Amino acid sequence: MKKILLTFGTRPEAVKMASLYLELKSRSECETKLCVTAQHREMLDQVLTAFGITPDFDLNIMRERQTLTDIVCNSLQGMEGVLDEYRPDLLLVHGDTGTAFAASLAAFHKQIPVGHVEAGLRTWDKLAPYPEEVYRQVIDDIADLYFAPTEHSRENLLREGKDPSKIIVTGNTEIDALRYTVREDYSHAVLESVSGLTPVFMECHRRENLGEPMRSVFRAVKRFVGEFEDVAVIFPVHLNPAVREAADSELGGVERVTLIDPLEVTDCHNFMNKCYFILTDSGGLQEGAAGLNKPVLVARDVTERPEGITAGTLKLVGTNEQTVYENLRELFTNRELYANMSNALNPFGDGFASKRIADAILKDN
Ligand code: UD1
Repeated sequence: MKKILLTFGTRPEAVKMASLYLELKSRSECETKLCVTAQHREMLDQVLTAFGITPDFDLNIMRERQTLTDIVCNSLQGMEGVLDEYRPDLLLVHGDTGTAFAASLAAFHKQIPVGHVEAGLRTWDKLAPYPEEVYRQVIDDIADLYFAPTEHSRENLLREGKDPSKIIVTGNTEIDALRYTVREDYSHAVLESVSGLTPVFMECHRRENLGEPMRSVFRAVKRFVGEFEDVAVIFPVHLNPAVREAADSELGGVERVTLIDPLEVTDCHNFMNKCYFILTDSGGLQEGAAGLNKPVLVARDVTERPEGITAGTLKLVGTNEQTVYENLRELFTNRELYANMSNALNPFGDGFASKRIADAILKDN
C-alpha cells in the first residue's frame, strides 16, 4: 500500500492541506500520515483542532522571533529523522514556506518523491514575496508531481521546462476549505459589536512589509475610518511580535478599529464572508475572498495570483499610505467598482481540488 506523508508548519498551509489530508485519509488505497514542523504553534494548532486532525509527528520547532535559518535548519534536521523512520513513497508539501522548502530538500536528500500542492505560482522577483518566491521555485525544481491550482500556474511550469505529464491542474485547496467552514447563519460577538456599521476585514503580516510599509498601510486605514463614520475595521493581528507592535502603535485605541487575536479558520472565513471587502497582504485570503465574492485590495506591489487581477476580484494597491487610502475610499464609495469586483468570476477553483489531487496520486495504484 502506498505510504503518503503530508508535511506543513504554518497556519495557511494547514488550512490548505487539511481538506487534502482528510480526503487521502478516506481512501483505502493508501496509508496517510501527517508531520507538522509547528513553524507556527498556536496558529497551527487552531487549524488542526478546527478540522479534528492529530499529527503523527510534531517537530515543534517554533521560537520567538525565529530567523529563516532557524526555521529551515530545524525543519530540515527534524524531517530527516521522520523520513528515515516512516520512509514514505511520496511526500506532499504546500506552497512556499520555510517548512515546505526544508521538507522537500530533506526528501530530495533521501531521494523520496515530492508532490507540490499549489505549484507554479510565480512573480519572478526573488524579493517579493520574500523569501517565498525563491522557496517555491526551488520546491518546483525538486518536485516530481505538480498540483497547479490554475491554467496560469501550469503555464509557468511549462515555461520552466517541467514535464507536462507531471502537471495536474486542480484548483486551489483554499476554496475546498470554505466548504467546511462557511455558514450563512454564523454569528460572533465581534461582528455583533459593529452591527449597524459596514465592516471591513484586514490582515497584514508579510515579512517584506514589516516596518515602514506595514505602518503606512495602517496609517491609511486610520485615515479611512476617520473619514467614514459608518465604517468599522476588524483586524485579527498575527502573533508575530513585529506585526503586533506596529498594529498597536498605529491602530491601537483608534475608534471603530477592532484589533483582535488571530482567528481560527472557521471564524476567519466567516468574518470574511460577513465583511464588505478585505484589505490584506496574505496569499490565501486573496483566494478565499474570491471564493466568497468579496473584493480584495492587496497591500503588495506584485502578486503571484494574477488570475485574480485579470478576473477582477483583486486590486493591487501596494503599501504607499496615500495610494492605499485612496483605494479604500474608492472601493467604499464607488458602487459600480464594488459590484464589478464582487461579481467577478472566482478563478481559483470549484472546491474539489483535494479530490483531484488524491485521484492523481492514486491513479496508478
Ligand atoms: C510564515 C511564512 C509565510 C506565511 C506566514 C503565514 C515562511 C518563510 N513564511 O511567515 O509564507 O504567509 O507564515 O502566517 O515560512 N508566532 C507565534 N505563534 C504562532 C505563529 C507565529 O508566536 O502561532 C510568532 C513567532 O514569534 C514567530 C513569528 O510569529 O517567530 C513569525 O512566524 P514565522 O513562521 O517565522 O513567519 P511568518 O511571518 O508567520
